[in-house]
Amino acid sequence: MNTVDSIEARPSGAALGAEIVGVDLAQPLDDAAFARIVELFHRHEVAYFRDQRITPEQHVAFSRRLGELEVHVRQDCLRPGFPELFVVSNIIENGRPIGSQDAGQFWHSDLCYLREPSRASVFYALEVPQKDGKALGDTMFASATAAYDALADDIKARIENLRVVQSYAKGYYSVRRSGPRKPLTAAQQAKTPDIEHPLVRTHPYTGRKCLFVNEGYSARIAGLPQNESESLLAYLLEHATRPEFIYRHNWRPQDLLLWDNCSTQHKAVADYELPLRRHMERATLKGGVPH
Ligand code: SIN
Repeated sequence: MNTVDSIEARPSGAALGAEIVGVDLAQPLDDAAFARIVELFHRHEVAYFRDQRITPEQHVAFSRRLGELEVHVRQDCLRPGFPELFVVSNIIENGRPIGSQDAGQFWHSDLCYLREPSRASVFYALEVPQKDGKALGDTMFASATAAYDALADDIKARIENLRVVQSYAKGYYSVRRSGPRKPLTAAQQAKTPDIEHPLVRTHPYTGRKCLFVNEGYSARIAGLPQNESESLLAYLLEHATRPEFIYRHNWRPQDLLLWDNCSTQHKAVADYELPLRRHMERATLKGGVPH
């Protein structure tokens, strides 16, 4: 049984990220313990638990307690029997990839191209590639609150009321390690039209301002001439992922990690390949319209 008093955060020392200790997610979690986890998660933006021996049912149940879950448009990447779990893996079984082979290998936040981008993701490590005793396939996280706070006042004033176009197609068709992807179907395109969102959004729980741009899906800044849009976007993209805003997670099997898709963006590090196997599964929480 987990008790609220046993739960504490060990901050990473970076701008974001903390290990949460004193929790066994395979055991019941009362409301006070759950509320403490949520509070620590909002404070640290990325929160992880080591050594969690949980089933897919428990992964989904814990995630669903945090909020309603998405089902990804890429049906071929969902775990059989668990449509709420999006598989990220380089493993091929019976001649077919078991999940998305190169998901997230650019800076992005999950589902930022939807009208209601995801609030957070819950990522579970089943297999982590190892070489010479070292785990590969890290994930890097950048704090969008730290990035916003560090902007100069004149840039903050300039971008305050601007909107950014987030484009699923831009990210989907970008250059991939596994080669070109199949064209999006008409149904997938209909679910993911380009969309405008505020360039600076307010976190729905903490009220902090977050810089809402990422290299993967941010296509342009709405209403600006092309050259102005390109130079402002390039500046903001470079700024948003400066080393001082980053926490880099070195995975261990049975890590369960929560990332906030409003106050952070992330990027998977592709420094491994078969026969080194990586198998992760992601539950993705629905979010609200950014404001
Ligand atoms: C993702 O962006 O969902 C994948 C991140 C990772 O594989 O590390």
